[in-house]
Amino acid sequence: MKDLIENRRHITLFGKAKLAWLILKENGLLWCLAFGVYYINSSIAQKAFQFMDHLRRKTGIPGMNSLALNKAIWEAWDWSAGGEEWSPSEGWKSSVIKCVLEKEVPAATEVLEIGPGGGRWTVPLIARAAKYTGIDISASCVEVCRAKFAGEPKASFAVGSGIDLKGVPDDSIDALWSFDVFVHINQNEVEKYADEFKRVFKPGAVGILHHGSVGGAMGGWRSNITHDSMLKLLKDRGFEIVSSFKEWQDGSETHQAGLYQDVITVFKLPKA
Ligand SMILES: C[S@@+](CC[C@H](N)C(=O)[O-])C[C@H]1O[C@@H](n2cnc3c(N)ncnc32)[C@H](O)[C@@H]1O
Repeated sequence: MKDLIENRRHITLFGKAKLAWLILKENGLLWCLAFGVYYINSSIAQKAFQFMDHLRRKTGIPGMNSLALNKAIWEAWDWSAGGEEWSPSEGWKSSVIKCVLEKEVPAATEVLEIGPGGGRWTVPLIARAAKYTGIDISASCVEVCRAKFAGEPKASFAVGSGIDLKGVPDDSIDALWSFDVFVHINQNEVEKYADEFKRVFKPGAVGILHHGSVGGAMGGWRSNITHDSMLKLLKDRGFEIVSSFKEWQDGSETHQAGLYQDVITVFKLPKA
């Protein structure tokens, strides 16, 4: 949509008139009226989005990504699909598990998940972990997960403040997993979380974060964080970046981390 709108500016007025006549001839007036409404609306929507983006960058307002709004949205969410509404296909999900989760999360260790939501990644994480902790800003997510994983003695869930890991002991975590969560958390709050990662990670522990890269410029209610600023804030705290990628290869298939230039970053706390 974005490219189409930008490209159409390159057509001359005469070219546009010729196209309009052809479209009218082939489709009739009623269809063309609806097309006109769509065309004008999409132009206005594009301008409105650019203005929102500009205002957000200039004034520092949180957009759709404040702590309070994240809590309110995800407490109101219908979790009956378990978060599978964000998996583009079964093949994609299996590939995330095989090529990212099982590759990076060491087996039989203490795993922390931030933002389990409806438990989409919690099943493979619990299967892999010796001990699993899920922390979510939304009380309803925690309720859903507690009910769903009631028979799992190694799993526990807690409501968090959205910026800290209170209740998680220092030096206790081997692996952190968070998918489709940091895409919605603004930089200020990510920085507070990153301080906490430093506190709770054991030396050598690994973090796998799925996050945005263009500061919200592609839509998708993404946070204001950019790829560079995420890598910098992790490095500033002494973490080593293992890899950071927008797509990966699984046999003949290429899979994307997300629809909005999302990235998966794997980082480590070096052993002393
Ligand atoms: C789009 S859902 C993704 C849920 C799950 N991770 C998945 O991939 O299916 C976003 C989740 O992040 C949680 N969340 C949002 N902001 C958070 C924050 N600051 N701290 C912890 N959880 C947060 C929401 O409550 C929700 O469960």
